[in-house]
Amino acid sequence: MSTYDVTVIGSGPGGYVAAIRCAQLGLKTAIIERYNTLGGTCLNVGCIPSKALLDSSEHYHNAHKNFAKHGIELDNLRPNFEQMIKRKNEVVSQTCDGVKYLMDKNKIDVFTGHGSFKDRNTIEVNAIDGKGDTQTISTKNTIIATGSKPFSFPGMDIDKERIISSTEALVLKEIPKKLLIIGAGVIGLELGSVYARLGSEVEVIEYADGIISFMDKSMGKELQKSLKKLGMKFHLSHKVKNVERKGDKVTVNADNKKGEAVTFEGDYCLVAVGRKPYTDKLGLDKAGVKMDDRGRIETDTHLKTNVEGIYAIGDVVKGAMLAHKAEEEGVYVAEMLAGQKPHINYNLIPGVVYTWPEVAAVGATEEELKASGKKYKVGSFPFKALGRSRASMDLEGLVKILADEETDEVLGVHMIGPRVADIIMEAVVAMEYRASAEDISRICHAHPTFTEAVKEAALDATAKRPLHL
Ligand code: FAD
Ligand code: NAI
Repeated sequence: MSTYDVTVIGSGPGGYVAAIRCAQLGLKTAIIERYNTLGGTCLNVGCIPSKALLDSSEHYHNAHKNFAKHGIELDNLRPNFEQMIKRKNEVVSQTCDGVKYLMDKNKIDVFTGHGSFKDRNTIEVNAIDGKGDTQTISTKNTIIATGSKPFSFPGMDIDKERIISSTEALVLKEIPKKLLIIGAGVIGLELGSVYARLGSEVEVIEYADGIISFMDKSMGKELQKSLKKLGMKFHLSHKVKNVERKGDKVTVNADNKKGEAVTFEGDYCLVAVGRKPYTDKLGLDKAGVKMDDRGRIETDTHLKTNVEGIYAIGDVVKGAMLAHKAEEEGVYVAEMLAGQKPHINYNLIPGVVYTWPEVAAVGATEEELKASGKKYKVGSFPFKALGRSRASMDLEGLVKILADEETDEVLGVHMIGPRVADIIMEAVVAMEYRASAEDISRICHAHPTFTEAVKEAALDATAKRPLHL
């Protein structure tokens, strides 16, 4: 039986990063992964493949709609969907191979198979096809990083062929003619954009009265305008009751705002109503680990479960289901195990939606500030007023900065526009150092860049004196 200081269950961004940091700190480390490829949801069926398809489809869309304005003429332009999926698969396999390389480099032992607790210090690993011998690991500490799976309500049964989750939407054999999407959250809008750009008719049916409703309301309003231009249709304030399939057709049955029954028909339906923590056959009862009422592993503020020596991180615990949040938690637990005193500022975990325009945010939304009674100032600046935006024809969107009315400290930054997924990091750094809006406005920003919108929004927030508006 092998013995380790730390065993990590699950090789997603939470698990594999935790394992690397443990090994760097001199702890003898093992990682267990059900599947043959490492990297979890993020690398195999999440962040990486979705971004690969978003990039490919955006290139096609630009070639189709925008190249002519740039003076580039193309004949016979059409998507080669098979090649798009092939390239996406290559990106995934290169990225997963990279994680395997990092495990070898850091001398982390990789066990392939389903891990489950036999008791709090013993974990068994069995191949998921049930074949082969059971491997047994003895461990002082365990980090549970088993992630999440697609969620669906009763009546939205995913058959993986026509009624699909994000996992199948990343490996379709054809471009849907009409794609119905339940949920205008991150998955629905990112994957909806992919297929709308490739020519599918896309209709999104959403329960809330806005899209990306967890973000600052102004962002959803702006994004909806942009996605409508792409041809996407939105049915807001609609509660989906169920989805039916007859042959190659799917029907979504919903209640509209007035409570009237409405139906939508298409050839595929993507169910994107959230994800649920994954703890199947983990043997939590044998180790005595408690879960909360939403099926997540319960942890304290140090990511410790109720059992000494067992920790949990990432999608399987409370908080945002984001790869970078899982990574931070992985590093946190590793450093704590090595006797350090790490810290995570959960208020400064950025969120990004990779549509075009992109949406990105950090800190409080205007709605949250209103609800808290905090006095705040708002500054904003539209991208269309920037020379950089005119040069590249990326004219949609804005930067919005919320600052404390008295101290001028930046409390939240919300952006929709070109490359804001990257630009948001300026706001994260500023907020980490508790910058004021004036601090940001006095930093020299390169010209011409999209980042000038951040400086201008800060000028607007601090003293209502943008220079270019
Ligand atoms: P996971 O990545 O889910 O990894 C868990 C791993 O544990 C899996 O490999 C699983 O097989 C393994 N496992 C589970 N149980 C066992 C067991 N008993 N034994 C052995 N192995 C086990 N987040 C972002 O930040 N940015 C994005 O752009 C983004 N895009 C996304 C796009 C899509 C389509 C989806 C579905 C998700 C996206 N996410 C994104 C969310 C992100 O993928 C997750 O937040 C992240 O992967 C969580 O990491 P994790 O390590 O907690 O778990
Ligand atoms: P989500 O929570 O973002 O959105 C789900 C949407 O479905 C909500 O708007 C909700 O109101 C709606 N909904 C729920 N029940 C409904 C019903 N009966 N009828 C109509 N609408 C209904 O969940 P999503 O998009 O599935 O994503 C899951 C997680 O994956 C997210 O929490 C996110 O953290 C992560 N993710 C992150 C990405 C990123 O960072 N760019 C990309 C993709 C996923």
